[in-house]
Amino acid sequence: MSVQLHDKTFDLFLTSNEIQTRISEVCEYLNRDYADKRPVFIAILNGSFMFAADVMRRFNGACEIQFVRLASYVGTSSTGEVQTILGLSADLKGRHVVILEDIIDSGETMVSFLPLLAQKEVASCQICSFLVKPDALKHPIDVAYRCFDIPNEFVVGYGLDYDGLGRNLPDVYHLH
Ligand code: IMP
Ligand code: MG
Repeated sequence: MSVQLHDKTFDLFLTSNEIQTRISEVCEYLNRDYADKRPVFIAILNGSFMFAADVMRRFNGACEIQFVRLASYVGTSSTGEVQTILGLSADLKGRHVVILEDIIDSGETMVSFLPLLAQKEVASCQICSFLVKPDALKHPIDVAYRCFDIPNEFVVGYGLDYDGLGRNLPDVYHLH
């Protein structure tokens, strides 16, 4: 099965069934590790909204969620700089944080965001990402919870977009 978005064709890569089954498995670990910790999930917008909703509804204990929106600007130097558009609101001091990401590609976004959290003096912080592209990583980032490691290719669906389109697809597609 294929979909057309703008000028490009994408082929089916991960079905909704595979996605949901795998998220359930990963959430068993989250339920085990955070049972009595009242974690604060921090969902990185826009891409993680579907994943965040699916993780949230599978977490059995008390938990909270916040949404953060980041925009990255890469200057003349090779250092990526991330500006916070919608920031962290509540007091996170002493809290156990689980970052929810749609995909970790170069890792630039996480490398810029993690120090902002450290400033808040959180008790712990782990990353839970729907997808990881290990071959694209430019920084050694520890992704403690991950659903799928994928090849270094462009994907859409399940929250991920190509130029604004494709976020509503329940399955994930890769470039034809
Ligand atoms: P990073 O900072 O390079 O790790 O990039 C992470 C962000 O880039 C993700 O949160 C996505 O918004 C976007 N991104 C990276 N790879 C893809 C992809 O294959 N499809 C859609 N968006 C992507
Ligand atoms: Mg994103």
